[in-house]
Amino acid sequence: MRMLPCEPRPRQCEKIMNVKGKVILSMLAVSTVIVVFWEYINSPEGSLFWIYHSKNPEVGDSSSQKGWWFPIWFSHGYHEEDIDKEKEQRQEDEEEKLQLSDWFDPQKRPEVVTMTGWKAPVVWEGTYNRAILENYYAKQKITVGLTVFAVGRYIEHYLEEFLTSANRHFMVGHKVIFYILVDDVSRMPLIELGPLRSFKVFEIKPEKRWQDISMMRMKTIGEHIVAHIQHEVDFLFCMDVDQVFQDSFGVETLGQSVAQLQAWWYKADPDEFTYERRKESAAYIPFGQGDFYYHAAIFGGTPTQVLNITRECFKGILQDKKNDIEAQWHDESHLNKYFLLNKPTKILSPEYCWDYHIGLPSDIKLVKVSWQAKEYNLVRNNV
Ligand SMILES: *[C@@H]1O[C@H](CO)[C@@H](O)[C@H](O)[C@H]1NC(C)=O
Repeated sequence: MRMLPCEPRPRQCEKIMNVKGKVILSMLAVSTVIVVFWEYINSPEGSLFWIYHSKNPEVGDSSSQKGWWFPIWFSHGYHEEDIDKEKEQRQEDEEEKLQLSDWFDPQKRPEVVTMTGWKAPVVWEGTYNRAILENYYAKQKITVGLTVFAVGRYIEHYLEEFLTSANRHFMVGHKVIFYILVDDVSRMPLIELGPLRSFKVFEIKPEKRWQDISMMRMKTIGEHIVAHIQHEVDFLFCMDVDQVFQDSFGVETLGQSVAQLQAWWYKADPDEFTYERRKESAAYIPFGQGDFYYHAAIFGGTPTQVLNITRECFKGILQDKKNDIEAQWHDESHLNKYFLLNKPTKILSPEYCWDYHIGLPSDIKLVKVSWQAKEYNLVRNNV
């Protein structure tokens, strides 16, 4: 605020300042009352403010974020910078933080990799204590989102089974919003969802090639996060529709940025991975680099992190289009490049996305999600 030039007539000036001060003060008081009242009538539980806790126990470093979440009414038309600032503020408050060691024991599964070189947990059946996590998240009252795309014949073939099984096994006991994106809303299957579950259906423009459907997914998810998802959920998963939940996919999977190990490659050497190996592609990963081969069928995290993932992947896809090159495994190649540069804070074992065509080795103790038979000749226009 600029100061008034006060030299010529100090007394009068003081008076003006006084009147001005009073006006400003009363305006502040009135707006505070309006804001508080508005927030009160708009808050779902009638509580004065919506307290946003970090619902995110992870590697016991800076990942805990707590504090005040700006009231919803103020948050429309947000920028990414605003989200980051809030996150920083939340990180300042450290009360009730859950340490990695409280719920995760990497030694419970010595035969598999349970901790990455950058100290992120690789969640295998047996390594986590779900009761401790449930207790923690019950207090946080989290909402988890799940996006799924079904286009063309994928709607009839996979969507109903995906949703029915997700309803039964995904984040049981927690609030869930399914974001269902289809190219024809009239063909949405009728499903009955359990309590705490709701869904939102969106119509998307169909692409001719399945490769484009898969790549445009990154753009569409990003747009929906900015437009509404960031205000609606604490965590978000993005999944392929051609899989079925078989067992509990619970809070042990939640984290800032979550990647899924690809079932066929979980024991392979990075030099064998089907990373994009052409230098011309934005997804290029040279031999000698790489940590894991991640499966694009499941990825997730906080809305901010997922937004970054989808944005960066889509940027890579666009750059490749401009250079007239398409990465070998499309969006998955770009996702692998992203996670090479931005290490995931949590990794899910292949038990979370298993392909029974491999058989059932002893490493796989409990399959939570399994791939559906890929009937590509039936569901894809171009194979
Ligand atoms: C988003 O991705 C870019 C590019 O990889 C990275 O530099 C940046 O740190 C990421 N931001 C966040 C918040 O993770």
